[in-house]
Amino acid sequence: VQSAKESLYIVSQYAATFFVKQLWETDEGKGIGLSYFKERGFREDILKKFEVGYSPDVWDAMTQSAINAGHKLEFLESTGLSIKNDNGKIYDRFRGRVMFPIHGFTGRVIGFGGRTLKTDKNVPKYVNSPESEIYHKSNVLYGLFHAKKAIRDLDNCYLAEGYADVLSVHQAGIENVVASSGTSLTVEQIKLIGRFTQNITILFDGDAAGIKASLRGLDMILEEGLNVKIVSFPDGHDPDSYMHHVGAGAFKTYLENNRRDFILYKANVLLKDAGDDPIKRAGIIRDIVESIAKIPDQIKASVFIRECSSLLEIEERILMSELNKMRSAKV
Ligand code: UTP
Ligand code: MN
Ligand code: MN
Ligand code: MN
Ligand code: MN
Repeated sequence: VQSAKESLYIVSQYAATFFVKQLWETDEGKGIGLSYFKERGFREDILKKFEVGYSPDVWDAMTQSAINAGHKLEFLESTGLSIKNDNGKIYDRFRGRVMFPIHGFTGRVIGFGGRTLKTDKNVPKYVNSPESEIYHKSNVLYGLFHAKKAIRDLDNCYLAEGYADVLSVHQAGIENVVASSGTSLTVEQIKLIGRFTQNITILFDGDAAGIKASLRGLDMILEEGLNVKIVSFPDGHDPDSYMHHVGAGAFKTYLENNRRDFILYKANVLLKDAGDDPIKRAGIIRDIVESIAKIPDQIKASVFIRECSSLLEIEERILMSELNKMRSAKV
C-alpha cells in the first residue's frame, strides 16, 4: 500500500508528463505554447531540461486524462491540480497556460507554476500550485534541483525572482541559479541555499518592486550569516529580458562586472533619492549601518564598517559607535 504522500508525487508526475506531451505533440500546444517559448527566445534544450509544458485551454483535460489513466480524484484535488467548484463540477487549475513544473530537492515534481498567454490585465500572470502535503512554498526554491551541483562547485548561488529568469540564466550557460518564485524570499529558502554555499548573489528585477525586495532580501541574508552581493539590471529589465536583450556572452560579462557588495548597492540605491540633503544622507548612513548590524560575525561587520567609512567619508569610530548602539538595542 502506497502512502498518501507518495500518491501526490505520482499524480504530480503524471500531470507534468501530460503537460510536456501537450506542448510538444499537440497542435494547440505547439501552435500556442511552444511558439510562445520560441518567440521569447528559449532554446529547445532548455525547455526540455526544465520539462516545461502546456495546459490545454479547456475545462478539465488534465483531470480526465489522469482519471482515465487510473489516478484518484482525491489525490488530484490534494495537489490542487483539480478543483471541485460549489456545484460539484471538477475542473483543471491550469488551463491555457505554459507550465513550469517545480521540482523538489530530490528531483520529484511537487508543484507547478503556470503562465498565462493572455495580455489581459485582469488575468493573473502566474497561477501556482497551492500548499499541499508535498509542496511547502516557503521551503522550496525553483531550479534548485538543477542548480545544486553548480552552486556547490562554484561556491555561489544566483538568486532571481522568477521561473523565466532561471531558464534564461541557464541558457546563458550559468547553472548556479534559483528563484524564490511565487513568494517573497523566506528564511527557510536562505537556509536551504546555505547547505550548498555561503555566497548569494541577488539578481532581482530592475523595477521598484525588485529593488525593494532586494533591500529586504539582503538584510535577511546577512542576518543568516551568509555573504550577499547584488547585480542590478537597467531600465526595468529582469535577468530573463536582459539576457535575451544583450545575448548570452554579454550577459555573462555583465554579471561578472556588475556584482556589487551590499554597502555599495544600498548606498547607490538610497543616495539617488537623497541628493545633497544632509539629513537624508544621515538617515541613509544609519540605514546602511543597520544592515551591517545584522551580520552575526563581528570581525566581518567591522570590515564593512571600514568600507562604509571610506565610501561615505564618515569617521570609522562614529560608525562603530552607531553599530554598537544598534547591536545593544537589539538584545
Ligand atoms: P514577475 O512579474 O517579475 O514575472 O514575477 P516574470 O518571472 O518576470 O515572468 P515573465 O517574464 O513575464 O514570464 C516574478 C515571479 O513572481 C511570481 C512568479 O514566480 C514569477 O516568476 N509571480 C508573479 C506569481 O506567482 N504570480 C503572479 O501573478 C506574478
Ligand atoms: Mn522531472
Ligand atoms: Mn517583477
Ligand atoms: Mn520579472
Ligand atoms: Mn520576466
